[in-house]
Amino acid sequence: MRIVVTGGHGFVGSALTSELLRRGRFRGEAVDSIVLLDKVAPPGAFDGVPLIHTIRGELVDTLPAAFAEPVDAVAHLAAAVSAECERDFDLGMRANLASTLAVLDAARTQRAQGGPLATVVFSSSVAVYGSDPAVPLPPVVSETTLPTPQSSYGTQKLACEQVLADFTRKGFVDGRVVRLMTVAVRPGKPNAAASAFVSGIIREPLAGVEAPCPVGRDVQLAIASPRRTVAGILRIAEVERGDGPGQLSGRLPVNLPALTVTVGEMVDALRAVAGDAVADRVIHSPDPAIEAIVRSWPARFDNARARALGLEPDLDVADVIRHYLDDHGITTPRTQ
Ligand SMILES: NC(=O)c1ccc[n+]([C@@H]2O[C@H](COP(=O)([O-])OP(=O)(O)OC[C@H]3O[C@@H](n4cnc5c(N)ncnc54)[C@H](O)[C@@H]3O)[C@@H](O)[C@H]2O)c1
Repeated sequence: MRIVVTGGHGFVGSALTSELLRRGRFRGEAVDSIVLLDKVAPPGAFDGVPLIHTIRGELVDTLPAAFAEPVDAVAHLAAAVSAECERDFDLGMRANLASTLAVLDAARTQRAQGGPLATVVFSSSVAVYGSDPAVPLPPVVSETTLPTPQSSYGTQKLACEQVLADFTRKGFVDGRVVRLMTVAVRPGKPNAAASAFVSGIIREPLAGVEAPCPVGRDVQLAIASPRRTVAGILRIAEVERGDGPGQLSGRLPVNLPALTVTVGEMVDALRAVAGDAVADRVIHSPDPAIEAIVRSWPARFDNARARALGLEPDLDVADVIRHYLDDHGITTPRTQ
């Protein structure tokens, strides 16, 4: 199996690559090669790993090299994030829409030339949902809720979902769409997403740094740990299509399971796991613009479609925090 991961040096791409290496198999067959496409330099985590090949550059420019040998599956994760796309419309159209069309065209050409039918798993987002005056969001959202995105990023994701479904209908690719929740806890530096504080209020206090929290304690969020997110992406990429139990039916995306929490519950869980001194580093610094964006996102999901495929949300926020500590070898006075 030769698997291409676009955005392979990013947060989810790195976690997915680690998990593929750990499993060593995809759809029951040995993984021979993982090709990471990204415009940024490799973080170094996979240096010297024989299965890993990296091709650096703008996605559309790296696709010919990636498809020079048969590609069995593509995890298409490369994207510009929400706030960047709002600030720079052309960037979003290029990085999210045009790049996805180029990935699909490369896979279609491979098939037309007698190569394998590539599985393409596309990481969409719950930013496809939004409350429109004519179609207000229901209190609980599912895959049958009409997506009416209220941002360029969400619109680009929704457009890609639809094109992917049509390429699948035409037999050009085997496309699958997973909509990710806010993935927490993200390591490293904050990114340009409006949701950056969600990881920040856990990560920075654990690193001894104060973390501004721009929203109130009552704000609800739909989150998932990197482990559950990667497990969900791989499950949807591997699951058989069909209408039977445990199969992927129809053209609808799968919303990955969401753990619904309030910001206050996140801080309380941090206090329980890591102690008062750590949790007291979360400083309420209201930012009405961020709060308005975050409150517009759906927070409650009907997880039935994901559950039917064997996917469950994280147990609770404390569990999400403990995963972060384990995955990054972080100890606190409470966990030593
Ligand atoms: N992390 C989340 O909370 C979250 C939530 C919903 C959806 N998603 C989606 O999941 C995917 C992965 O997210 P992430 O958090 O790992 O993002 P990330 O920003 O950490 O990683 C994305 C990677 O893609 C690369 N990239 C972007 N545009 C590129 C281009 N034109 N050419 C080459 N490389 C390019 C970036 O350099 C980066 O390394 C994205 O599609 C994102 O929209 C993420």
